[in-house]
Amino acid sequence: MNVMLQPSEQFHREYFDWSEEEFANRFVEKVSAGRLKQNRTYVDLKLEKKSLKQKLQAAYLDAINLPNLVKMLPGLAANPKPADYVGSIYRFLKDDRASDLFHWWKKLRQGTKTPLFGSADIINVCNLKCVHCYWWTTREPTAGELTAEQWRIVIRNSFKKMRIANVTVVGGEPMLRKDVVQVFSEEMKNRMSVVTNGMFPLIAIKGLYFVSIDGTEEVHNSIRGPNTYARIKKNVKTFADAGGRVDINMTLNTLNYQTVMDVIHEWDDIAERISIQFHTPFVDNDPLWLPFGDERNKTIDSILEYSSRQNKHFVIDSSEQLELLRGNWGYKCPNWMILPLDYKGNIKMPCCMGSANEGALQPQCDKCGIAPYSGLLAELFPLEKALGN
Ligand SMILES: C[S@@+](CC[C@H](N)C(=O)[O-])C[C@H]1O[C@@H](n2cnc3c(N)ncnc32)[C@H](O)[C@@H]1O
Ligand code: SF4
Ligand code: SF4
Repeated sequence: MNVMLQPSEQFHREYFDWSEEEFANRFVEKVSAGRLKQNRTYVDLKLEKKSLKQKLQAAYLDAINLPNLVKMLPGLAANPKPADYVGSIYRFLKDDRASDLFHWWKKLRQGTKTPLFGSADIINVCNLKCVHCYWWTTREPTAGELTAEQWRIVIRNSFKKMRIANVTVVGGEPMLRKDVVQVFSEEMKNRMSVVTNGMFPLIAIKGLYFVSIDGTEEVHNSIRGPNTYARIKKNVKTFADAGGRVDINMTLNTLNYQTVMDVIHEWDDIAERISIQFHTPFVDNDPLWLPFGDERNKTIDSILEYSSRQNKHFVIDSSEQLELLRGNWGYKCPNWMILPLDYKGNIKMPCCMGSANEGALQPQCDKCGIAPYSGLLAELFPLEKALGN
């Protein structure tokens, strides 16, 4: 949907005037250039196919891989019963996501890259100052924050125009801007999630919450601040007990990786699911980065064992994704699959951890541990192989 601005409207972003096709081309060009600037070992997924045999092979692998892609769109309960599947398929069709997914797939098969997911930093302010957070390395003065109605215009001219299947609302701390969260819930109904530090009561939305938990109580508090853990747990429980849906999100670093199994066991009957990722450094010799090797592998082994022997539903990361996170996968990151906007509605690069400001400090791709992008690569792996890379 292309929503044009009223002449009286002062607020403008360059992409408001772009058609869907122009948007896709410019966006992919911009994030790929940003990615290359950082590290020349970038391997771009190739979309052109040469022979009929390769096309047939790709279509076959796409068909096998489709359930993996669909699984990545939030909507299905953690431990689905037949009725959950029916409900999920109904919502999926009702919200037009099947047609958007098909649209995206068709473009890809025609050799045109276009994003499928989005992220929006709706605020540049946070109530915490966590020791590991990348936010503080690239933060700019807050002037220029958008109003809720300006976000509505941005959403219509970016995510909706590009037929994005799901947007992650993030920040800073997004629950400091409940008005904007509400706008996303209205505009991107059943295709939005909010990543929050959980310090504020959660409000009803047409979407899913991811609450960040960074260890067992003592370790979490040492990273996120005194007394944060108890308050967050109370907020999550209150919301979940009232029927709300909450996943948790843990970022493993050298301070907390040893607590991951305790976190899983403590939360697996409170939250629906957990997404696990690894700390990504922005500077050389970052002491929080858990190096590739024994300790990291043992941690991944214990998560895999839990998923295979105890509860195959709780951990969102697939075994393919956890295998990728053992080492450097970032050189083939599909960063063009997620359209990330900053708090002013500008396009960030090379990814949602980056910045719209070209001079800003950037994340180190060869040590990246980020869940959404590694998840996409893992789930698309058969496709990537089919495309001849
Ligand atoms: C930037 S925060 C914004 C949302 C909200 N304030 C929160 O803490 O959930 C989003 C997520 O990024 C994670 N994060 C922060 N710095 C990171 C880094 N350097 N590498 C990987 N994840 C990081 C946080 O732990 C959090 O789960
Ligand atoms: S609460 Fe989120 S945005 Fe704020 S400092 Fe912590 S990780 Fe960063
Ligand atoms: S998600 Fe990771 S690998 Fe991909 S562009 Fe960002 S930092 Fe690099």
